[in-house]
Amino acid sequence: MARIGNIDLGEFPLLLAPMEDVSDPPFRAVCKENGADLMYTEFISSEGLIRDAIKSRQKLDIFDYERPIGIQIFGGDEDAMAMSAKIVDATNPDLLDINFGCPVKKVVCKGAGAAVLKDLDLMVRLTKACIRSTSLPVTIKTRLGWDHDSRNIEEVVERMQDIGVQAISIHGRTRMQLYKGDADWTLIGKIKNNPRIHIPIFGNGDIDTPEKALEYRNRYGVDGIMIGRAAIGYPWIFREIKHYMATGEILPPPTIAERLGACRKHLQGSVMWKGEKLGILEMRRHYASYLKGLSHVKEFRTRLVSTDSLNHIEDIFGEIARQYAEMQPA
Ligand SMILES: Cc1cc2nc3c(=O)[nH]c(=O)nc-3n(C[C@H](O)[C@H](O)[C@H](O)COP(=O)(O)O)c2cc1C
Repeated sequence: MARIGNIDLGEFPLLLAPMEDVSDPPFRAVCKENGADLMYTEFISSEGLIRDAIKSRQKLDIFDYERPIGIQIFGGDEDAMAMSAKIVDATNPDLLDINFGCPVKKVVCKGAGAAVLKDLDLMVRLTKACIRSTSLPVTIKTRLGWDHDSRNIEEVVERMQDIGVQAISIHGRTRMQLYKGDADWTLIGKIKNNPRIHIPIFGNGDIDTPEKALEYRNRYGVDGIMIGRAAIGYPWIFREIKHYMATGEILPPPTIAERLGACRKHLQGSVMWKGEKLGILEMRRHYASYLKGLSHVKEFRTRLVSTDSLNHIEDIFGEIARQYAEMQPA
């Protein structure tokens, strides 16, 4: 049984990873519907939050049906992190997560995200500043280390647990790897074998099938698995893994009607949350994933990303439904 503070996450939780420009409320809604046990917002800049930047503030939007939900922040300055933790606290999510894993230049250049892996004293100070400023459980998400020769995740976990961090999600890559190569969960397994570690450890990186999820659960002994890219356009990954773990059976893939249903719900959510113009525009990046695996779908995709009209999109969905009825995607 995995617990974070008072939050009961069940036997073996599946977490939706925080993903910038992806893990927004409309996307989270379809993941929740399909079995995500704990979800996170996209990361939010602490500097942006305290500047009251609209884009950062909008990312704080959470809804009751999403619970349990964590808000993720990043930053390299203690005061900004403390103030952000207070702002997050006031929005009343279930937990506050700190990003110590983001590899992108604009973040690490400011001494935030994965850059903090190079200075564990700073990591301790930033984390303590957040813990002091919120009554929420604080968790962190990080990587194995900055580069191959400085993989310090074991020390990170010990020090974070000691100052009161309540769970840690670990992406099995270093910062220098970015998203290249295969995620290596060996050190994650080692941490799970450390008798001193009692907080939940969630494994992350490259889980994209029910078989792999079960294999990694058994091999590395993690308390839950966090899934990112495999859920984009395929929120059924959560229910498929759950079903496989419970029964050993692989569920049939979603039908065309289910694919279009989730895509429509995602689109409607986007329009409601972002307004019609932006909602339609930002939904464009998701069609390819929802339609992946369907043969000869390119023409539909092109039309979906070239129209600004909800009615027209609905017409195209109707055409897709008719064309692919009876057919199961590969
Ligand atoms: C488009 C995209 C955006 C991401 N944004 C964030 C983020 O905001 N915060 C974070 O902690 N990780 C972020 N990540 C990393 C993911 O949370 C996750 O650690 C990574 O994708 C590995 O998991 P996966 O193999 O299941 O995708 C992002 C990843 C992607 C692909």
